[in-house]
Amino acid sequence: MDQYVIKGGIPLVGEVEIGGAKNAALGILAAAIMTDETVVIDNLPDVQDINVLLEAMSGIGAVVDRINSHKVAINGSMIGEVSVDYEYIKKIRASYYLLGALLGKYKKAEVPLPGGCNIGSRPIDLHLKGFRALGASVSIRHGSIIAVAERLHGSHIFLDTVSVGATINIMMAASMAEGYTIIENAAREPHVVDVANFLNSMGANIKGAGTDVIRIRGVEKLHKTDYSIIPDQIEAGTFMFAAAATKGDVMVKNVIPKHLEATTAKLEEIGCEVEEFDDAVRVVASKRLRTTNVKTLPYPGYPTDMQPQISVTLALAQGTSIVTESIFENRFKYVDELARMGANIKVEGNTAIISGVKSLMGARVSAPDLRAGAALVIAGLAAEGVTIVDDIVYIQRGYERFEEKLRGLGAEIERVSCEKEIQKFKLRVG
Ligand code: UD1
Repeated sequence: MDQYVIKGGIPLVGEVEIGGAKNAALGILAAAIMTDETVVIDNLPDVQDINVLLEAMSGIGAVVDRINSHKVAINGSMIGEVSVDYEYIKKIRASYYLLGALLGKYKKAEVPLPGGCNIGSRPIDLHLKGFRALGASVSIRHGSIIAVAERLHGSHIFLDTVSVGATINIMMAASMAEGYTIIENAAREPHVVDVANFLNSMGANIKGAGTDVIRIRGVEKLHKTDYSIIPDQIEAGTFMFAAAATKGDVMVKNVIPKHLEATTAKLEEIGCEVEEFDDAVRVVASKRLRTTNVKTLPYPGYPTDMQPQISVTLALAQGTSIVTESIFENRFKYVDELARMGANIKVEGNTAIISGVKSLMGARVSAPDLRAGAALVIAGLAAEGVTIVDDIVYIQRGYERFEEKLRGLGAEIERVSCEKEIQKFKLRVG
């Protein structure tokens, strides 16, 4: 298994280009099978999660033509199966978006129940509640969710918890239901809006995405479209914190600054300068950072997917910070790894009390999940000496050419696959 080996202590300086949003792409790709015409999707991130979903879609008979690494044409007219293989759902939970897409189009779908995940228990009861409200009968048999409807009809659905997945899944099915659906307490994340815009470009009639009430008038048919995915706010935020933690100066390009407001606000609070441009943000950190308190919340609050990255940065700030994780219960697993690098963090329930240290020291650590893995890389970039990050498959699920982009900013980082290569790296960097 590959590892990252990093020689830390070098401020990141330069420009980095952000790719398409993984979480938007997952919803959009699934929705692309809802028409029999060919849909072209651009600005696709070339990451593992996307490639697995495309395989799952081919598995049910969709024709997937990868025009280039960031562009794909999908034709869903040949779908013969509405049953998705467990192999795929095991690898990415988001293949559950095929449930909403298939149910909407064919009025039946069978998708294995996604298992637990290493950031905590992730129920999908709200997705199922929504499908039932639209008239589907939903049962769980032999580990799969089976949703079937004679016809789907519009409904008034209140989501008890703000859920990105449930909002997108219900929105897809409701787009092809008969009549009018209202989703209340809907998630407002930029990727919810992007999936809604995509569906609208296919002829759906969705209003209010980006607010907490989404109104959908069902249509009988959807048609072809040519669509470009929004930039990835989490990839962008990760580079912004990498700049902060290494006391660097980085221009993060191809972003929508509005989507980064929560991250920008926190960076400014801890003493970074953040300059906004039309489609870029520049983060400059020249002195030791200050502390702050942060609580993860649904958008426009501070994103849970950016929690490990800010925690690593605060581990180097002057004083004590409190980070509260309110979305997922098991998202502090990386803290033990950080402690091995000299961080001083105490976790109590869903709160981390972070006493900043002057510097971190390189160590061998493992990535426990996607975002925590990226945060450990940030820690390695900021630390003195050499850090080895194991289990980087998690990072590759969501970051395209991560090491290459970091090297473009002056980082000493390499992807290696054996001890010999680690030794070679150590000899080279001295
Ligand atoms: C999505 C993102 C993930 C991000 C998360 C929160 C994708 C592919 N993944 O995950 O990166 O961390 O949003 O921004 O877009 N819940 C229920 N019942 C449900 C569904 C959710 O109780 O049926 C709860 C969850 O346990 C969690 C909260 O709602 O506490 C939010 O989860 P949700 O927004 O659904 O996360 P995902 O869509 O799985």
